[in-house]
Amino acid sequence: MELNRRTVLASAAAAGLAATALGGTAEAAPASGKGRKPVKELFGTLADGTKVHRWSLENGGTRLKVLSYGGIVQSLEIPDRHGRYANVSAGFDNLDDYVASSPYFGALIGRYGNRIGKGRFTLDGRTYQLSVNDGDNSLHGGAKGFDKRVWDVEPFTHGSDVGLRLHHVSVDGEMGYPGTLRVTVTYTLTRHGDWIIDYEATTDKATVVNLTSHVYWNLGGEGSGGIEDHELRIAASRYTPTDSGLIPTGELAKVAGTPFDFRRAKPVGRDIRAGHPQQILAQGFDHNWVLDKGITARPEHAATLRDPSSGRTLSIATNEPGLQFYSGNFLDGTLTGTSGRVYRQGDALCLETQHFPDSPNQPSFPSTVLRPGQVYRTRTVHSFDA
Ligand code: BGC
Repeated sequence: MELNRRTVLASAAAAGLAATALGGTAEAAPASGKGRKPVKELFGTLADGTKVHRWSLENGGTRLKVLSYGGIVQSLEIPDRHGRYANVSAGFDNLDDYVASSPYFGALIGRYGNRIGKGRFTLDGRTYQLSVNDGDNSLHGGAKGFDKRVWDVEPFTHGSDVGLRLHHVSVDGEMGYPGTLRVTVTYTLTRHGDWIIDYEATTDKATVVNLTSHVYWNLGGEGSGGIEDHELRIAASRYTPTDSGLIPTGELAKVAGTPFDFRRAKPVGRDIRAGHPQQILAQGFDHNWVLDKGITARPEHAATLRDPSSGRTLSIATNEPGLQFYSGNFLDGTLTGTSGRVYRQGDALCLETQHFPDSPNQPSFPSTVLRPGQVYRTRTVHSFDA
């Protein structure tokens, strides 16, 4: 019988065993349903004296460490099929590296996930020039996006859930975006160990919003090597091809017969060297998949990622219409990760639930406009198994 994570954890808890007794690297999680109150500690201090805290929370066998800086998931630990824990999210062990050189490791992304062409868009007849930080384009909210802001963090326990509410007020004109945007992102760990992200925002002027999370996954454990053996399934028949600056051309191209076809699970590395012109532009996969389910009232399945050697499996459900799959192409061996190992190309991958890149300039894409009186609300659910 293949043990799944719940049976391993339940039997370890019942026997009063630590996971180390199962050959693991840390003690067993509390039994399902006994989430621990989030605990706060100092993580570092920014140059201007602002203190950055790290919150640790745990529930249903999932352990999360979150920084007030960028809402960054600094560590996310889940067990393998033998109950052995590993941190499956790339990051750093110190604040200075996050400030100096992070490629958005684990961060909250806003106001706009992915790129806006030329950092410019027109809304209600007015043209807005955004902060340009990626060639000619604006990426992930501009030079100082939500990933570089210190969020107000409020812990909670609610029934069997534990979590954090992160608040940020982005003032009118910040990074060129119109309207004061009030944002709350809620991280919840359920008693089943699911990690849920709820994004909520309101504005006082018409604006555009596209929030996401930039966790770099390696289900074998961060620093353990490449993700090419990970099996990925994406529930999408189409994707959005890009120009050389990774701005969508506007076309929704079929994945059938191309390396972009992940409708049936396949190893990430199988077609990564196929030499499709779109892969050459992106140095791998770095595209938005158009989820077949479209925008849904509730989160529905978008993708599944599985590491066959550890058995660790991540399933992502969202109500968003798109998923950016980025195969860690620009990791180049210059960053030293949390456990002291260097990250090379393809040592982690991102699966970012979102609206499509450059939607403000693409009338045929689902709209990212938010107006006063409306509430932006999206949810992404990460479920783990082994
Ligand atoms: C983008 C990549 C970018 C990366 C930043 C991803 O969401 O699609 O092009 O390099 O974020 O590290």
